[in-house]
Amino acid sequence: MERLVIEGGRSLRGEVEINGAKNAAVAILPAAILASENKCLIDNIPDIEDVHCLERILKGLGCSVNKIDRNTLEIDATTIASVDACTEDVRRMRASYYFIGALLARFKEAKVDLPGGCPIGVRPIDQHIKGFEALGADVTIEHGAVRVKAENLKGANIFFDVVSVGATINVMIAATLAEGTTVLENVAKEPHVVDVANFLNSMGADVKGAGTDVIRIKGVDSLKGCNYSVIPDQIEAGTFMIAAVATEGDVLVKNVIPKHLESISAKLIEMGAKVEEGDDSVRVYVEGPLKGVNIKTAPYPGFPTDVQQPMSTLLSSVAGRSIITESIWESRHKHIDELKKMGANIKVEGRTAIIDGVKKLTGAITKATDLRAGAAMVIAGLIAEGKTEILSIEHIDRGYPHIEEKFKALGAQITRIETE
Ligand code: EPZ
Repeated sequence: MERLVIEGGRSLRGEVEINGAKNAAVAILPAAILASENKCLIDNIPDIEDVHCLERILKGLGCSVNKIDRNTLEIDATTIASVDACTEDVRRMRASYYFIGALLARFKEAKVDLPGGCPIGVRPIDQHIKGFEALGADVTIEHGAVRVKAENLKGANIFFDVVSVGATINVMIAATLAEGTTVLENVAKEPHVVDVANFLNSMGADVKGAGTDVIRIKGVDSLKGCNYSVIPDQIEAGTFMIAAVATEGDVLVKNVIPKHLESISAKLIEMGAKVEEGDDSVRVYVEGPLKGVNIKTAPYPGFPTDVQQPMSTLLSSVAGRSIITESIWESRHKHIDELKKMGANIKVEGRTAIIDGVKKLTGAITKATDLRAGAAMVIAGLIAEGKTEILSIEHIDRGYPHIEEKFKALGAQITRIETE
């Protein structure tokens, strides 16, 4: 077990390189099993625990996975030997549900344990199932595993009841090898949805419209391996932008797509921070006082739920009242109790956090209650007076590559230490 120890009070200064997008990579790796010919060479993969988990699951299915370097994997799925993904790794993480769509597309059957993931609310997969059934699959849930089986997958028109990143990507993957055309409506438009569509097209799929409300997939006979580079992580970038403002620093956040960060940049500017966009970077700094703002999370291009928690830390030390309304996940305010231990003045009412900014936070022993909550606590430690310890950092390692190295390079005093 490890923990992070932070001595707060230093402004972050310098440059940080953003890694590939976790939520794109965790769909692209399972989708790589669609290649019945040739290998996939995928780079800009973040070096995080969720990716390590997927590597193990791929190997368990019989794929050969070759780590070329920290961020590049070569996957050979021509050797795949099983359609059964029922392991502890599958149960631990959310994105393992993409194996259902990928195995169903290529082998017309799969047995995959129900996924785990961050405890941020009820996380049903009914929309995934609705999509698979519309394509012609029989879907049953037995002993905690999803079984899917089809004689033949046939294109269909599917209107999702809710906008879901996971269901959009999963059904898009499943439809790539179906007979005829599939039309998906009311889909998610997140940058990682577009990235997965681009990856599928690089393999020979015919997917059009990703990034809009309607995706059209013309089924093809087979898919091949390809070379692909994952897009930069919008959420990791947002986390560093927020940390720069929270510490009243000056940070150049590099290897990003500024367009993907617009909703975050707009809120920081509304607060009084400075954000300067470059071609593939954003410089974030503070000049003058900041003020509280109101935020409501929404599917892309709205304000991302995944940076709401880091944002609440920043707002906890900004003068005035801020209100954050979480509209995607009903339990994504669990970190607020941890922030309160550090002196934050926040009241949670249902999905809303009412934040009255305090002059300073003070260091305390805290814990990461989930992935982004962990990032929120790191930022809290960076701005707090004195020492902060963060426990349960395995949550952070699931999604942020080498977080302490990156913050240290920006001048933070942060150390990872072994704990009992
Ligand atoms: C993805 O989760 C991300 N995870 C989450 O990021 C992110 O918070 C979320 O999308 C929203 O952007 C991955 O990509 C691995 P959804 P996902 O399906 O796909 C409801 C992080 O911090 N819903 O878009 O599970 C659901 O309850 C993680 O990196 C259904 O009702 O989210 C929620 O209210 C945490 N039925 C809403 O839709 C379904 O079948 C959006 O969920 C599916 C979802």
